[in-house]
Amino acid sequence: MKNLKFSFFTLTICCLLFACKTVNSQQTSLSSSTNKLDVATILSKMTLEDKVGEMTQLSIDVLSEGKPYNLKSPHKLELAKLQKVLVDLKVGSILNVGGYAYTREHWYEIMEVIQDYAMNKKKSGIPVLYGIDAIHGANYTVGATRFPQQIGLAATWNPEHAYETGRITAYETRASAIPWTFSPVLDMGRDPRWPRFWETFGEDVYLASEMGREMVKGYQGDDIADKYRVAACLKHFLGYSFPWSGKDRSPAYIPERQLQEYFVPPFQEAVDNGAATVMINSAEMNGIPVHANPDILTGLLRDQMGFEGLAVSDWEDVGYLYTRHRVAKDFKDAIRIAVNAGLDMAMVPMDTDFPILLKELVEEGKVPMSRIDESVSRILKVKLELGLFDQPYFPMEDYPDFGSAKHAQASYDAAAESITLLKNEKNILPLDKSTKVLITGATANSLRCMNGGWSGTWQGDNPEYDTKGKKTFVQAIQDKVANVDYVEGSSFDKAIDITAAVNAAKSSDVAIVCIGELSYTETPGNIDEFDLPDAQHELVEAIAATGTPIVLVMAAGRPRIVREMVAVSDAFVMTYLVGDEGGRALADILFGDVNPSGKLPFTFPQFHNTFKPYDHKGTDRVKRDFSMNGFEPQFEFGSGLSYTNFKYSDLTLSSKELSKTGQLSISITVKNTGARAGKEVVQLYITDKVASITPPVKRLRGFEKIDLAAGKSKTVTFSVSTEELAFVGKDLDWVTEAGEFEVQIGDLTEGFEVVE
Ligand code: BGC
Repeated sequence: MKNLKFSFFTLTICCLLFACKTVNSQQTSLSSSTNKLDVATILSKMTLEDKVGEMTQLSIDVLSEGKPYNLKSPHKLELAKLQKVLVDLKVGSILNVGGYAYTREHWYEIMEVIQDYAMNKKKSGIPVLYGIDAIHGANYTVGATRFPQQIGLAATWNPEHAYETGRITAYETRASAIPWTFSPVLDMGRDPRWPRFWETFGEDVYLASEMGREMVKGYQGDDIADKYRVAACLKHFLGYSFPWSGKDRSPAYIPERQLQEYFVPPFQEAVDNGAATVMINSAEMNGIPVHANPDILTGLLRDQMGFEGLAVSDWEDVGYLYTRHRVAKDFKDAIRIAVNAGLDMAMVPMDTDFPILLKELVEEGKVPMSRIDESVSRILKVKLELGLFDQPYFPMEDYPDFGSAKHAQASYDAAAESITLLKNEKNILPLDKSTKVLITGATANSLRCMNGGWSGTWQGDNPEYDTKGKKTFVQAIQDKVANVDYVEGSSFDKAIDITAAVNAAKSSDVAIVCIGELSYTETPGNIDEFDLPDAQHELVEAIAATGTPIVLVMAAGRPRIVREMVAVSDAFVMTYLVGDEGGRALADILFGDVNPSGKLPFTFPQFHNTFKPYDHKGTDRVKRDFSMNGFEPQFEFGSGLSYTNFKYSDLTLSSKELSKTGQLSISITVKNTGARAGKEVVQLYITDKVASITPPVKRLRGFEKIDLAAGKSKTVTFSVSTEELAFVGKDLDWVTEAGEFEVQIGDLTEGFEVVE
């Protein structure tokens, strides 16, 4: 049997290598004729059918055996469908996976056939642009490295981790023969009810812009034709993350001032750094579906922001203009509206009518040819820049580091810097390695809970697609120390064996209770209650009643109300969605081999009715005693403890007065006054004391993560220009007003003035 398996595998590899060679050698001849190719030359030779086909993106479901959403297993392409979709309809882009992660071998098989149909059987020979949601690693390829999700990366406050996650994800995505990822999410995580909160870099504009830029650079490098880089896709443009209802794909109401000041900047930063593509917000904003809004798709994205890349719709959203939003009378009308608004490519994704109807619209004069040419040019530009005409994918053996220990180490490093210690009474942590511990709770023994959605499957909910050999919290702790008892205790929402957990707690020195969420994304992640289910409360309360100290660990994609559970625990640790190496990272932190250095990238609410980001306006008098202290988070944005202490001193400004074109240098000395080395995030906040519109209480204007040995000091210097003090004012322009400002770093503050 073993031999049989081996010979089948060898045969498959040989076939693949041969196939790869065939496509490549055909490409060599294509490339010699396409070397001089540019967008205008290709466009001039294209028919209208070629062009509308290029603007169509379909799911791999429509190329596969079986029915959409219900493909035959194991997955297989169906050649007649390829002929229809790629050759007859000339569809230019395919996306996604048919339900679950594929092996690299299978991805190569798929890509070889698809590109053969596109480049050899279709007359124009234009390669297919294949896109996938590789959002925390190449999460749809078996054996790929899975990183912390974006909310965890943000908690590292270390942009290098965003860069490395992007770089390695690009490598492993290309190693799966795919050149385009639908990542990063640059929506602002300013409403924790939203089920995709964890896909964001959190609530702060500055932090999200820094992390987003680095992730894009990691994906794209200097040249997306590089066989180790991919095209990034910024999503979801714009306003998706701030729904009025807190639910996925539901309407947002965002005033223009807030839109410009809070929601545009992370996208702008990524656009300025060369991001190749964007994806449009599925929902509606200010009463208009974004896919139907030329002011957003053209006015804002193109004219104001200067984006020259390709804009793809989100899943089925053109159709929704008619079925859900009711701004179109039928599908054809919806296509007219979306394309005229500025959409380049429609993720239809199961509907093969799109190119046919779009062609009719052009022939009827309802969509101008100039609009089509503009979109097709943008699509071709991305294909050319990716080098797809020359070589759509590279040999499998060019990627020896796929799923390697080196890549796992990068994921571990990010995980270890993301985990955030928020309470540590009487320094219960770190635990001594001889401590007798009970570990229990819904998220204790689950890679699903550590990885979240988009992991092996869309919802990340099928353990069959967990990465083999990776350790859950329980397994990693058992690997590390000897005295470990594990009792499940509760599932996400059901008490399992609370009595057994209580009994085990009684004979343990410490109980590590792991609470949190199951994996989810999009609509399946909508919640009606912000509390965690009763079963998790019951478990914590029952263990607290034993008197055994509790280390509460929360693995979740968003904060939930944990006030009562935290109150009865001695320590509280937030892991977010920490990825495949998070078990090891948590064990190392709990038992003191790593000093925690994560900081919250969002405000952790304490009560259901007080969701408010840290940079809110200071006008709320929400307490019933009329006092001005309406902001009462469980834990503040930017907070996170260490096993050592840092002392801030010598906050020095280069000047107390700054002109409107001035530059201020701000320095601070940080000393590690404890007994062990540690990393600290030095955070610079600035407050505009008086402004023509109500100023936020403070805004992050710089940060740096430093590493300090025990007893050592470091001086950190920030440079801030007056431009960076600006806000979007009454006239909807960015303004810096003269007046007093206050700098805050750590517990120190210092004032300065901007003069006319
Ligand atoms: C999501 C996108 C994703 C797309 C393709 C949509 O449902 O909103 O974020 O990129 O599907 O899978």
